[in-house]
Amino acid sequence: MTYEEKKFSLPEMAGLSKESVAAHLGLYAGYVKNCNVLMTQMDALRADSEKNAIAIAELARRFPFEFDGMRMHELYFEQFEAGVQKLTPQSALSTALAEQFSSVGEWEKQFRQLGMMRGIGWVNLCFDVAANTFHNVWIGEHQQGQLAALPIILTLDVWEHAYLADYSTTGRAKYIEAFFSNQNWAVAEKRFAVVQ
Ligand SMILES: [Fe+2]
Repeated sequence: MTYEEKKFSLPEMAGLSKESVAAHLGLYAGYVKNCNVLMTQMDALRADSEKNAIAIAELARRFPFEFDGMRMHELYFEQFEAGVQKLTPQSALSTALAEQFSSVGEWEKQFRQLGMMRGIGWVNLCFDVAANTFHNVWIGEHQQGQLAALPIILTLDVWEHAYLADYSTTGRAKYIEAFFSNQNWAVAEKRFAVVQ
């Protein structure tokens, strides 16, 4: 099989320029392409898997970087589709966040704080279904720190490519502000409804 690049129907977003978003979508496309290239190359190398063991191992190490980069960008861009929609105050997601973090505002504060960590990466709000618990998780690059089998409810890309063109290197906080102000929270609410 091959992975297909998804097309997103994105509205105009305050604080996230069309040029910046277009470039970001181009990077996403690269992850899709590289997933397919890596799978094809590993298949070819398996024709002589003993001789190519080291080459296969190196590509296998690289695959999660490309795959998680692909998948998290899909989750990320999907969160902006169909325009801004605030988190519904009485929704299951809102209620559960408030129960665990004392308030949705406190959850958001903690999530934003992780987003300001130095380094390149992502912040994911994940939900541990078995323990009925959320985790805000720092993801280094795309693949480091992923919590096994925990569905992602909301994801925030804080690689510099996500904000450099609009905010410069020191503008990550403003970018995170724009990220939140453009969210279609119905997407996260739907993801939570499916897994809870
Ligand atoms: Fe990105």
